[in-house]
Order: sequence, then C-alpha cells, then structure tokens
Amino acid sequence: MTKDRKDFRKKMIGNHRLSPETQMMGYGYDPELSEGSLKPPVFLTSTFVFKKAQDGKDFFELAYGKRAPKEGEEPGLIYSRINNPNLEMLEDRLALWEDAEKGLTFSSGMAAISTSLLAYLRPGDVILFSAPIYGGTEYLIRNILPEYGIKAVEFESGGTNPTLQPAMEEAKKLGRVAVIFTETPANPTNGLIDLHACRDLADKVGEETGHRPVIMTDNTFLGPVWQHPLEHGADIVLYSLTKYVAGHSDIVAGAAIGSTAMLGPIAGFRTILGTMCDPHTGWLIMRSLETLKLRMTAASENAKKIAKYLNEHPNVEKVHYLGFMKKDDPCYKIFQDQCEGQAGATFAFDIKGDEAAAFRVLDALQVIKLAVSLGGTESLMEHPYAMTHADVPDDVKERLGISDRMLRISVGVENPDDLIADLSQALDAV
Ligand SMILES: Cc1ncc(COP(=O)(O)O)c(C=O)c1O
Repeated sequence: MTKDRKDFRKKMIGNHRLSPETQMMGYGYDPELSEGSLKPPVFLTSTFVFKKAQDGKDFFELAYGKRAPKEGEEPGLIYSRINNPNLEMLEDRLALWEDAEKGLTFSSGMAAISTSLLAYLRPGDVILFSAPIYGGTEYLIRNILPEYGIKAVEFESGGTNPTLQPAMEEAKKLGRVAVIFTETPANPTNGLIDLHACRDLADKVGEETGHRPVIMTDNTFLGPVWQHPLEHGADIVLYSLTKYVAGHSDIVAGAAIGSTAMLGPIAGFRTILGTMCDPHTGWLIMRSLETLKLRMTAASENAKKIAKYLNEHPNVEKVHYLGFMKKDDPCYKIFQDQCEGQAGATFAFDIKGDEAAAFRVLDALQVIKLAVSLGGTESLMEHPYAMTHADVPDDVKERLGISDRMLRISVGVENPDDLIADLSQALDAV
C-alpha cells in the first residue's frame, strides 16, 4: 500500500498510548482502500500491477536493499513471496506487541527459526543453544546445521544459567560464536533463561572477538502477551504462531520480530528460500490476534486451577508449573523480571509410574485430546519423551529431566471443572 498510512497506523491519542489488544482491531488497514469493508479482504494474488515501470524499479530497489528509502517513501507491493498486504498488516500488528520496528511471518515456526539461523550462521561458526528446547529446533541445531559446518554447544536453562559461561568458553575455542539461541520458558520443562545474562555475555564476546553473537529467543510459550524478550536482551524474537497466537489449532505459521536492521538479512533469506506465510493464513492470524489476550488470559486462569489440582493429586509426583516457583528457586528472579507475573498455560507434570502408566492416562482421556502442539482453545496432552522430543537423544532427555513419566498439558479455554473431572478419571489409570 503506497497511500499515506499515518491515520490507520495511529499509536497515540494525544498523550495516551493505545494498547496492542485495541490495535489488533484495525492497525495498518485503511477501509477506504477496500470499498469500506470493515475487515481487510484476503489478497489472493501472486503478483501486483505497477502503475509505471519506474515504480517497479523503485520497489525492487527498496525490497532488495539496493538503496535507503527517500523521506516518506513506502516499499511498494511486488510479488507475494516478497510482500503482500495481508502479511504487511499482520507483521505490523505482531510488532506492536513487542514494541518492535518490524515483523516477518513464515510458513511455520520452524521456517522462522531455520530462515533466521541460516541468515546469521556461516560454515565454521558456532551456535550456543539452550536446552531443553523444542525437538524440531534441537534436531536442526544438533543434526542438520553440523552438516553445513556449523558447530553446536549446549547450555542448560534454569537459574542464573551456571552452564552459560563455561559453554561460551568452549564455543569460542571452536570458532566464531555467531548466535546464542534461547527458548524460555523451555519446552517441555518450563526452564527459564536469564536473557540479561545472555546479553551481557554477548556484549563481552563482541568486545573480545570483534563479533557480537546475535541473541535469538523462541517466545512461543508465554509471548507475546506475557513476555517481551526484546526488553530483556534478545535481538530477535521467534514464534511458532501455530500455538497461542493463531490459537485454534487450525493453521501452521511462524514469525520473527525485531529491529529493521536485525531482520534485514532474514527478510532477504526469506525472499530467496520462499519460506513466507501465505495471505489466507495471514488473514486468519489477524482474526486470531483480536482475541489473543482474552484467550491467553482465560487459558492461564484455567491452568492455575489445573496445576493446583494436579499438585495435590496422589498419583502425581511433580508439577513443572512456573506459578509454583519458590523465592529460593534460582529461576524465581528471572520469572519476576521477565514474565510479567504470568505462568502461562502449558506445563509438564511427572506421574508416579512409568511410560506404560503415562500412556494409560493419555488413553483414558475423554475431553482433553491426545495430541501434540499447544496454545489452542482446546486442551491437549502428550508424552514429550516419546512424541515432541522423540528426536532428542535419550541420555540428553534424562539429563534435562524429560523422563518417560512426564506428561505435557496445554490447557485450553474450556470450563476448568470439566478438565479436572477428565483428569481425575484419567489419573485413576496410573
Ligand atoms: C517452542 C516451539 N518452538 C517452535 C516450534 C515449531 O513450530 P511449528 O510447528 O509452527 O513449525 C514448536 C512446535 O511445537 C514449539 O513448541
């Protein structure tokens, strides 16, 4: 859209700053450009018509970073692998939650993660990554990237990350440390990473070596409502939008959020790799964003009740719920500083039994669905050891506390009493 967008990109009323949840109803969309339609249409087009050949030249120059935009110049629409009105609106709206300059959307969370890593890593580089981490990301870092000459060193989430410094020392010996990749809270243990500590370390390494590692944070579990990693030290925030943001278990998508400068290389790689989101999916996610805060708030309230119920259940050994953290826990301060007091709605718990008992519980569920994924309106349960984290080597899983007695629940927005009734009868199967 080349028209002046200032009015429909309004962020303030006088001195009052509008909240993201309000902005989700219309930010970045001008109804006048679409016959007065309250909602944006889906721009199902692969390509866009240029008014003049000079426009085409200008648009490509901006899109390919061949020159900086002139005063007031907006990037024009070219081709839906490069840009599309639905995706531009969605990306602008996603950036609002993080108070960031820019967002980029992708065909999946893994597309966002892999495109971002490829944009910042080169053969011979080292990636420092937190563990545990989503199984797909773990596989990419531990198995695929090494085939392209990229070495990986792990540090454990939790506390003030005592393994972060030694892991960085080891990483520096192996080559240029280009990326610190973090997932906080971690899937499935809810381990936390101190992002301030990561930023301080990255700055120190930058001073020592002349190359400051880029800090990427997967914020799928708590964001973008309950955690804003850019405020705490991350350079790029990554999402599986498939989860809470889209929130209805009906689409797969991802995002990267950050400054225009940090996202520049990723945008370039996305254009060439073709890992962008499609317009129809983008439209659906904009619809989801209108209820994001409501859904995340309702799911968190439900999760509080479910976690309390599980914690008191005789067949449950331990509940890995952030809200139960004690003041003397080394992660407590990180939780207070980074997570805006909310524990989210996805957590794991260990039953008093073995894999067979855990499977019996899953098979007995009547309301909660036995499925991987999380963040949807419906509650889901799964067995991380055998399912989402199947690719993680068994010895690593055991070291990180992912046992075959662990079940993960993503609490939805159903009536919590119904969920508790379901869990009550299913846990009899232990
Ligand atoms: C924390 C986290 N990050 C990334 C992903 C990958 O996202 P997607 O399935 O959208 O590719 C997942 C998927 O489960 C996840 O849980």
